[in-house]
Amino acid sequence: MKKTTELIGFDNYFNVINDNPVRTINPPVYKGSTVLFQNYEDMLRANKGQYEGVSYGTDRLPTQRALEEAIRRLEGGHLTRVFQSGINGIINTLLAFTKSGDHILLCDNIYGPTARFCRKILSRYNVEIGVVPPAVGADIVEYIRGNTRLIFLESPGSNTFEIQDIPAVTAIAREKGIMTLLDNTWATPLYLHPFELGIDVVVESVTKYISGHSDVLLGSVTVSAQYAEQFSKFYRVMEVFASPEDCYLALRGLKTLEIRLKHHETSALQVARWLETVDLVDKVIHPALPSHPEHHIWKRDFKGSSGLFAFTFKEEYPETKLAAFVNSLDLFGLGYSWGGYKSLLTAAKYDRACSARYPDKTLVRLNIGLEDPGDLMKDLEKGFEALRNERGEDSV
Ligand SMILES: Cc1ncc(COP(=O)(O)O)c(C=O)c1O
Repeated sequence: MKKTTELIGFDNYFNVINDNPVRTINPPVYKGSTVLFQNYEDMLRANKGQYEGVSYGTDRLPTQRALEEAIRRLEGGHLTRVFQSGINGIINTLLAFTKSGDHILLCDNIYGPTARFCRKILSRYNVEIGVVPPAVGADIVEYIRGNTRLIFLESPGSNTFEIQDIPAVTAIAREKGIMTLLDNTWATPLYLHPFELGIDVVVESVTKYISGHSDVLLGSVTVSAQYAEQFSKFYRVMEVFASPEDCYLALRGLKTLEIRLKHHETSALQVARWLETVDLVDKVIHPALPSHPEHHIWKRDFKGSSGLFAFTFKEEYPETKLAAFVNSLDLFGLGYSWGGYKSLLTAAKYDRACSARYPDKTLVRLNIGLEDPGDLMKDLEKGFEALRNERGEDSV
């Protein structure tokens, strides 16, 4: 069955009122701290940790469980837990699977706050942090030590878009008994199937494409059978949970994920190809363009591309001039996060610990939303025209 069909069909939600089953097409939003037991025997079982049902609000209420099951099926993993945000899921996963004395490897292009948590907090608990190049493959072997416990990948990185050779990394990691984690937010479970490439743990910022409307913060973590019990026990102890309303909205977002993603993909590619023809533009950094250094790997491993990519200018403009470009755009909002219906833009330089594919270059990152791509190109052209005028003023 196609993933879309499975997504749409996932609606087996029952609520029981006065013994009558009520089956709405969407799940009820279960809210609550107190969950009532049917009888004292069940309460006693819960006290002994032997109760199968839901015993408290932090114990994953049914709306949360419905979202977890939908994501688990999509990812093709063994167990999924959702968290209050993507970064919250990442942090808890790193805490679940590391201990004092471990060494972990981070890909140099991972989401900044992930690296920040490792450097500022995890290292305090005597976990050593190493960094591998963002286009790492079989050369990962050079970075592995006797105490390497896990490897954290993000492919493509959400700012600089380098792609890792995931099967090459996971083959070596498996041989050495090292866990591999992948932040799959850019591709979503629809465009990359990490478990099929040997990954053990998949993280998604559900905030982005899965929710799709920039009104939800949620994260999901899906693990393979090998790590399911450990992760489930950790989650229970940490008593992390996710907002029922947000889980409901994410489930709703999932129903339209494929058609939204297709639109993001087609529009982003159209804009990216056009940008390659613009005189002021130097590089367009988009994994689905043949000019991308790891395009061959993207083609081999991915089922599609999403709406986030970047470009650089031929000339490096000072911030005041860059402002002329950015501020003349009407359709691109200035803001973080991505994967929603509105087009967004950020412009920044990226320092890296061990790699510098675009040294000293400002990367203009575009989140191509659901607007008409022709209108978006016209808007960007206004920005380029403003820059050309600025250049003209300089030469006067
Ligand atoms: C690649 C990637 N992973 C994780 C996150 C964190 O997600 P959240 O905003 O849900 O905490 C982000 C957020 O921008 C991201 O870009």
